[in-house]
Amino acid sequence: MKFAERISKLQPYLFVEISRKINEKRAAGIDVITFAIGDPDIPTPPHILNRLLEASRDPKNHRYPESEGLPEFRRAIAHWYQKRFGLTLDPDKEVLPLIGAKEGIGHMALCFIDPGDVALVPDPGYPVYSVGTMFAGGESYFMPLAEENGWLPDLEAIPPEVARKAKVMWLNYPNNPTSAVAPLDYFNKVVEFAKRYDIAVCHDGPYTEVAYDGYKPVSFLQAKGAMDVAIEFHSLSKTYNMTGWRVGMAVGNAQMINALMRVKSNLDSGIPQAIQIAGIEALTASQESIEEHNGIYQRRRDRLVAALRSIGLRVTPPQASLYVWTRVPEGYTSASFAGMLLEEKDIVVTPGSGYGAYGEGYIRLSLTLSDADLERGIKRLSGWRIPSPPKR
Ligand SMILES: Cc1ncc(COP(=O)(O)O)c(C=O)c1O
Repeated sequence: MKFAERISKLQPYLFVEISRKINEKRAAGIDVITFAIGDPDIPTPPHILNRLLEASRDPKNHRYPESEGLPEFRRAIAHWYQKRFGLTLDPDKEVLPLIGAKEGIGHMALCFIDPGDVALVPDPGYPVYSVGTMFAGGESYFMPLAEENGWLPDLEAIPPEVARKAKVMWLNYPNNPTSAVAPLDYFNKVVEFAKRYDIAVCHDGPYTEVAYDGYKPVSFLQAKGAMDVAIEFHSLSKTYNMTGWRVGMAVGNAQMINALMRVKSNLDSGIPQAIQIAGIEALTASQESIEEHNGIYQRRRDRLVAALRSIGLRVTPPQASLYVWTRVPEGYTSASFAGMLLEEKDIVVTPGSGYGAYGEGYIRLSLTLSDADLERGIKRLSGWRIPSPPKR
């Protein structure tokens, strides 16, 4: 067999590798506590599940869905964006339901990237932006995210010849893995930059609803002129604890939505209708569960930040997202510190280097483990003196 070159270029998907390690330890009878994966432990709210159950019994929903989604679901998405961000979207032209944001992100690359084309991709970043670019035959130009810039790409540092070549820019705030948030003013500058160089902006915003201390993240589409150049990916995964149901959306510029719809409709057949109906329930019913869940994550954040500080790590509490992003002690790399935590404490964290070269020196801890597991993890860290780093 002769596989395509892209297969040999693929690294094992970060979380597949982490899951393998966890399973190996657990199979050996070891009690592993994992802070690795951003997958809410809290179940989908009951009113959403009830609607799903009811819809799943209706034979109408047993057949192929339409790729562009139910008109009622597109309207529910537009209605939610209006209520949450004050944005008016045309549900027929500016909204597209997705089988999770990840599906749309992967397919989006095919809309813009021909072999040899350039995508501007944040580093560290969610791996699908660069993998999608590679699948389409393009090159990623990595925009470093640095602590001193608030983990925002420095637009002025992008060489003009790269910017002229670039067809698309990926951004993600609240950010995975750094948990940084972006002010609207920064998004305004991105729109100006995108217009100057004729670049399409794909903003990935699945964490806008997971925020703390009363902070409300903005939508990229609230930036001045954003609808001319951008779409935003969003998801029901983290907002309503629906990761397993696979449902998300893209909204924004009509031409970009249309291109994504054309690619998608040739490759998949849309979201199962019963899940779209559950999505309508999620977006249009009471939003109380969001506050309630954010309260739970905020308490976990505070417990975890205090525990990490107590062992000498320098941590900034996140304002949003499901992650705590922290520097590893002097002398360690991301991987050596994560490896040592696993060996010594049976605690799994994600090495920042798994998100790109500029994630080196950091680890990411997720807040999506049960309170009981969190407390057991904290207990394991309490009073721990981090061993001296291995000599290099
Ligand atoms: C930044 C980012 N984008 C997209 C996704 C995928 O979301 P979905 O479950 O909607 O595919 C994730 C999931 O962890 C993410 O962290």
